[in-house]
Amino acid sequence: MRVLGIETSCDETAASVVTEAGVLSDIIWSQQIHEEFGGVVPELASRAHIEKVVSCTRAALEEAKLEVPELVCVTAGPGLMGAVLVGFCYAKALALGWGVPFIGVNHLEGHLLSPLLNTPAPEFPFLSLVVSGGHTTLYLAKGIGDYNVLAQTIDDAAGEAYDKVARMMGLGYPGGPIIDQLAKNGNPKAIHFPRANKLSMGRTKIQLSDRKELDVSFSGLKTAVRNYLEKTEGWVPEDVAASFQDAVIDVLLNRIKRAAESTNVYRIAIGGGVAANSELRQRLTTIGLECFIPPRTRCTDNGAMIASVGRLRYINGFRTPFNGTARSRWKVGEE
Ligand code: KG4
Ligand code: ZN
Repeated sequence: MRVLGIETSCDETAASVVTEAGVLSDIIWSQQIHEEFGGVVPELASRAHIEKVVSCTRAALEEAKLEVPELVCVTAGPGLMGAVLVGFCYAKALALGWGVPFIGVNHLEGHLLSPLLNTPAPEFPFLSLVVSGGHTTLYLAKGIGDYNVLAQTIDDAAGEAYDKVARMMGLGYPGGPIIDQLAKNGNPKAIHFPRANKLSMGRTKIQLSDRKELDVSFSGLKTAVRNYLEKTEGWVPEDVAASFQDAVIDVLLNRIKRAAESTNVYRIAIGGGVAANSELRQRLTTIGLECFIPPRTRCTDNGAMIASVGRLRYINGFRTPFNGTARSRWKVGEE
């Protein structure tokens, strides 16, 4: 089955064709217009999606040498509502015009299951860390549509912390890739920034129901960086970047290890923009778990993950009615 996937929930316009055999095309247009504002401007994102969604989709179909797919999938939320609606309405119109079924996909489920496009793919059950600009959640994935939340951020998402720290340092947007690059020439032990939830970090065994134990917080870290920058003359950008990144990754790896011990699941997959981080990707392979790390372009927003989840949901009997609508908030696993 050849499946078209369209993604417009934030600042990437993306379209892809996926089959059971793999990805036939994967077109991603990253919007640059937000750079000067230091963050995504929703109205500008929606307008840019309108300009690009048709050409991205055409390019994805052409590259896959396909005129009409058998299924159309699209991000239906969560995300910036105006941006989501551009892709959602376009995909719905395509499916209606072509007379093929249509599936609205949860964007986070796309990230959560994007490692299924890897070869080899993880078998269920596996742990999946979704770390993006809007979310930081560690899931136990037991099957398609069957997930437990083991940990999540109680304030900023990891990507949001990267973006905010980059802004404080006078760097550009998005901050994640810039800090990632800068940190390569810095000393991660130069400055000791706080690791979240220090009090609970000594405990290694947790109950699944005891979720608070594994929750993370990045706002204290962000404040510590701000204080450091304000109080320190001649701070070294590379060292600040490396030390900040070291703290973020320590916290994430700590939660993954503890989640693995308490669930006895020793397979970990990662997804979301921060999963493109070189240090996280490298250090994840050193904690004794079986790792499933998608290529960088499958970590940030893409259409292939949407087509892939939509295909699996379709096979599992799920359908989105043509009068269904998009949602700005939508928990993973919720119908
Ligand atoms: O998944 P994504 O493309 O969009 C959302 O759904 O949020 O993630 C974007 C986030 C941004 O906060 C960006 O700074 C971060 O992912 N990011 C990174 C890296 N590449 C992107 N963070 C750290 N290191 C990177 N290499
Ligand atoms: Zn995303």
